[in-house]
Amino acid sequence: MEQVKANEMGHFLFGGWDVAELAKKFGTPLYVLSEDMIRARCRAVKASFMDKWENALAVYAGKAFLPMAMCRIIESEGLGIDVVSGGELYTAKVAGFPMEKVFFHGNSKTRDEIRYALESGVGRIVVDGISEFGTLEEEASSLGRKASILFRVSPGVDAHTHKYILTGHTGSKFGIPLVGDYLRDAVRRAMRSEMVSLKGFHFHIGSQIFENTSHVMAVDVLVKTLAGLAADPGFAAEELNMGGGYGVEFDPSGKSPEIGTFTDAMMVRLSEGCASAGIPRPRVIIEPGRWIVSEAGVTLYTVQTVKPISGIVTYVSVDGGMTDNPRPSLYGAKYWAVAAEKMDEKPSETVTIAGKCCESGDVIAENLKVPPLHRGDLVAVLNTGAYTFSMASNYNRIPRPAVVLVSPGRSDVIVERQTYDDLLRWDRIPEHL
Ligand code: LLP
Repeated sequence: MEQVKANEMGHFLFGGWDVAELAKKFGTPLYVLSEDMIRARCRAVKASFMDKWENALAVYAGKAFLPMAMCRIIESEGLGIDVVSGGELYTAKVAGFPMEKVFFHGNSKTRDEIRYALESGVGRIVVDGISEFGTLEEEASSLGRKASILFRVSPGVDAHTHKYILTGHTGSKFGIPLVGDYLRDAVRRAMRSEMVSLKGFHFHIGSQIFENTSHVMAVDVLVKTLAGLAADPGFAAEELNMGGGYGVEFDPSGKSPEIGTFTDAMMVRLSEGCASAGIPRPRVIIEPGRWIVSEAGVTLYTVQTVKPISGIVTYVSVDGGMTDNPRPSLYGAKYWAVAAEKMDEKPSETVTIAGKCCESGDVIAENLKVPPLHRGDLVAVLNTGAYTFSMASNYNRIPRPAVVLVSPGRSDVIVERQTYDDLLRWDRIPEHL
């Protein structure tokens, strides 16, 4: 985590702002994203990956956080975007993102999505299995547009992370398994196709990973696979997309690994492996999501109730919760929070920050050391830039918070707060009721 800073009033400073001012201006709950921090992470990716290695491109995994303003930032930093649905593609397109820098993913693409991706001219369609191949060919020939594709493979590597965000093992729902002849058959079919140009392969082994060992193992597996396919059926891969998954540290006393920890190790291994297998090193792509945006976000809440249960726990309940951040209840993710206007007071109590949803599991942060908190106090939950807004829901008919993009001297709403009317927008009452 970036260092947690406060001003002389004891208020938490984030993205060049006293967050109390932001809460006053925009209300709570509020997602606050620091433009400088997002850009700094993009630049770190560029410096330690794109500029360091030849033929290397980074694409931002849009599923982490993809309002249109984010597409603009990513474009201006020179990265591509990976999208995973028609909706994400539409967002990037309307934002004016260059389509040739878009990778279109998905393990269950609809025909409409495939057509839309082709019509839009996305750079790559990442084909998850042979059963979508026929549809892709049909749509490509009906549009008269050749599709440039990668096959996603599951390298059979077990990354150490929560099982819900593990994706590279052989039993995964993602990718073509490397056991048996599934991949060789798929490659043969692509080589015969007139409407498809197979450029290479993609793997993504999972998310929130801290050590590079599983990524490096996956590279080894892929080198072997590339060498095997070069021999039979004589396919030379031009491109290898190594996915994302680089973890971030949520505890403010810790530090997230540098992206080079992963990419250096993978690139060295890939170059050596290709050299000794006698095949050219393909162009390489990575797809970091969380690493770019997670630490660039905080969520501001206002305390509503405080409930001490003697000898057991003190609940401090706030005006948001699992609707704006489902990660604690879904993955048991641990977050840290600060009393945003009491940074200079001694933390004398241990509390649990609870959300307002009708679920006991709606807890945002546990065992947090804070000064005494009361109704109206401001709480900032740290490191909430990734997979919070993008996974938000309207459970309990709670409107989604606004998203504000800040930099020193600027604060702009990039997603409006939902209203009660927004909640009713899709409701219809049939005549007989
Ligand atoms: N590329 C592909 C093909 C992916 O499936 C993903 C994430 C990424 C890149 C980016 O992974 P990252 O660098 O952000 O770890 N909702 C979960 C995370 C799911 C990630 C799914 N795929 C969470 O909140 O932890």
